[in-house]
Amino acid sequence: MPNLSRFGGWALITGAARGLGKAFAEELSKDGVPCFLVDRDGPPIDSLAVQLEKTYGVPCQSIRQDLTEPDAVDKVAAYVGDRPIGLLVNNAGVACGGAFATRDLDALNRVVLLNCLAPVALTRAFLPSMLERKRGGIIIVASLMSFLSAPNEAVYCGSKAFNLHFGEALWGETRGTGVDVITVCPAGMRTEFFARDGIHADDCARLMKVSAPPERIARMTLRRLGRKPTFMPPGAWILGNLPRLVPRWVAIRMVGGLMRRLARYV
Ligand SMILES: NC(=O)c1ccc[n+]([C@@H]2O[C@H](COP(=O)([O-])OP(=O)(O)OC[C@H]3O[C@@H](n4cnc5c(N)ncnc54)[C@H](OP(=O)(O)O)[C@@H]3O)[C@@H](O)[C@H]2O)c1
Repeated sequence: MPNLSRFGGWALITGAARGLGKAFAEELSKDGVPCFLVDRDGPPIDSLAVQLEKTYGVPCQSIRQDLTEPDAVDKVAAYVGDRPIGLLVNNAGVACGGAFATRDLDALNRVVLLNCLAPVALTRAFLPSMLERKRGGIIIVASLMSFLSAPNEAVYCGSKAFNLHFGEALWGETRGTGVDVITVCPAGMRTEFFARDGIHADDCARLMKVSAPPERIARMTLRRLGRKPTFMPPGAWILGNLPRLVPRWVAIRMVGGLMRRLARYV
């Protein structure tokens, strides 16, 4: 693992209570990086911070904050105060799967608020000081779905396409400044994400069997930070490149067919 303390200061990880965010928090703490863990849940995020601090002897603090609230990023920044953020991990994300016309509008809006607007506001809050210090790192968690237009995941796919372009454009913008940016595009990971997306329990169980452990994705991403703009884990490459290999309408129909077989929604 490269020296993750090279960015200086603290890491701030969103959606750190479980799944991929928790894996990032563990890897960074292990490497001696003090961490702020941001999540909307109460006890799990607090107890994780205590456990990481105790295990690795590095400061770890929890910030309970729902990132879809209008003043969320101001509150996070106020909590952080003058402690420098060296590494920002924009990880928190949700989906709202199922037929678009039947989904609750507030739930659909929350996908955009959390997946798109929160990373923009957090990055805007912390990138300027990284540029001033001439060092820092930003991770943006996109998805294999950034490349695909999957029926029944319209808003999620749109939000993840946003993450991909946002992250890659920032990589281009920050080259030579000392700030490293990487956008990671995982395929399936063994987390609670599928169940929360509204996928039927039997299908979740099958998807979990073929999914990657989030710890592996976190480690691989951290290793590649500073070396490339985008990281698509092995296994995602063929599907991710499908829209380049066949006409887009064929790709949409193929992905739709695959999704119908893999995921029924409750
Ligand atoms: N799992 C996959 O197959 C997969 C594939 C590709 C990309 N991704 C992406 O990977 C990222 C992490 O997903 P995951 O698989 O680790 O999902 P997860 O296990 O569901 O974890 C998501 C985390 O985000 C937090 N969160 C949700 N809403 C929030 C809010 N409004 N404010 C603050 N935190 C909030 C959750 O907290 P609560 O526990 O309080 O809800 C949870 O800790 C997401 O961006 C996702 O889109 C996942």
